[in-house]
Amino acid sequence: MSRSDEQWILLVLQSIIHNSRDHLMVTDEKGNVRLVGESSKEIYGVDQSEMVGKNVIKLEEERVFSPSVTRRVIDELAPQTMMQETHSGRKLMVSAFPVFSPDGGLCAIISYSHDLTEILDLKRRYETLTVQLKQFENEIEELREKNTASEGFVAVSEEMKAIDRLVKKVAVVDSTILLLGESGVGKNVIAKEIHRNSRRAGGQFVEINCGSIPEGLLESELFGYEAGAFTGAGKSGKQGIIEMANQGTLFLDELGELPLTLQAKLLKVIQEKRLQRIGSTTYCDVDFRLIAATNRNLEQMVKEGKFRQDLYFRLNVVPISIPPLRQRPDDVAALLKVVIRTLNERYGMNKRLDPDATSALLHYQWPGNVRELENLLERMVVTADEDVITMSHLPREIRETFEHQPSSEQIESISLRDMLDQVEEKWLRYAAERCRTTAEMAELLGISQPTVVRKLQKFAIKSQFKIESSIQK
Ligand SMILES: Nc1ncnc2c1ncn2[C@@H]1O[C@H](COP(=O)(O)OP(=O)(O)OP(=O)(O)O)[C@@H](O)[C@H]1O
Ligand SMILES: [Mg+2]
Repeated sequence: MSRSDEQWILLVLQSIIHNSRDHLMVTDEKGNVRLVGESSKEIYGVDQSEMVGKNVIKLEEERVFSPSVTRRVIDELAPQTMMQETHSGRKLMVSAFPVFSPDGGLCAIISYSHDLTEILDLKRRYETLTVQLKQFENEIEELREKNTASEGFVAVSEEMKAIDRLVKKVAVVDSTILLLGESGVGKNVIAKEIHRNSRRAGGQFVEINCGSIPEGLLESELFGYEAGAFTGAGKSGKQGIIEMANQGTLFLDELGELPLTLQAKLLKVIQEKRLQRIGSTTYCDVDFRLIAATNRNLEQMVKEGKFRQDLYFRLNVVPISIPPLRQRPDDVAALLKVVIRTLNERYGMNKRLDPDATSALLHYQWPGNVRELENLLERMVVTADEDVITMSHLPREIRETFEHQPSSEQIESISLRDMLDQVEEKWLRYAAERCRTTAEMAELLGISQPTVVRKLQKFAIKSQFKIESSIQK
């Protein structure tokens, strides 16, 4: 090899060493550094010039790096790979291999190290983020569950389960919903349930009871007003609740009470999706989902001209009729348990119903539906002195209706005539206790006064009540 060839090879070698993306180092067979990449300052914190000539064992002692991969190659005479830490705390993956001369003797060791500090850092951060992400996912899941599974909502009967399924199905679309059912069956609960399960759950659920606000005020509550729109309108004007429901859900409760003039205005808003505040000349866009509820027969009201047919059609897109509680005994049983448990938790009590009281409550007709059930249980739970609530704690109406329910043996041994007599007598006694005259009794019972007198005599109960004198007249 000519001298110029040697020079050329050396130049190329140096260039490879300096420009390699990995840090390269070449030592002789004893581990004395002969060539080292320019990045040694950056990686080891030691200048290239300081490293050249030093032995790797010395460098290892000075903790420039440790352990030394070159030393390991000298010991093992075979390629090696290991993790190495530098003086400045960097983490390197180092590989080294021996170079043998033609006669088989070790003549050099070449090592190259790859800085993994950033990658390890990224890995650590990635792991932390993965853990955090999992935590967030869990939290979101929990919140979602809390949002959808409304606490204490009872739907055990087939009727309510079907309603629950329908509610979940229609909640996600934007259709207008009309909730129908007697007072206290859960129309408000279901309206909120629909909102919670809808894509508008992040928006507001705005509720107005059309029956509880005087007509004059209702308009400004619904539509809002501009400053100075009318006497007493205030200087700054006011946003109406329809505007407040923008991006959310507007719940019009007791819709049947909405006056005809406002029905026309409401229809306009629903159709145009924009409204004009009272006293304003401009319109503002509104985007809300409408849920209306009523315990009145809107179809009948339409026939009577008390409710606009066009508005009725607009609202009656998805009607949901919630059956009265007396038609779903399975729910009564479940509600009794849920409500007592909730009350016990709220008041730190340990009340329970005995079997007879439970039976009586299961037989009761609940004209006031779930609200009546809740109120009655609350009254009994907070007033009963004992932990066990028995028949004696029940209101008399419930107790009596239950006690007068014939048992199956009674039905077998008693004629229908006798049974009707018993019922008649019970009603007469009931009326006699409340009325002062036989005329009043006749009015209450919906029969004529002579019939009242006759029946009182028949059942020989005249001596027991305060109207005796009036009968004998
Ligand atoms: N399925 C149910 N599970 C648990 N609680 C219920 C259920 N339905 C109704 N309730 C409870 O009964 C009470 C009355 O319900 P809600 O106010 O929704 O009735 P409503 O139909 O809107 O009555 P109104 O026509 O008088 O406004 C509320 O306290 C509600 O929480
Ligand atoms: Mg309601």
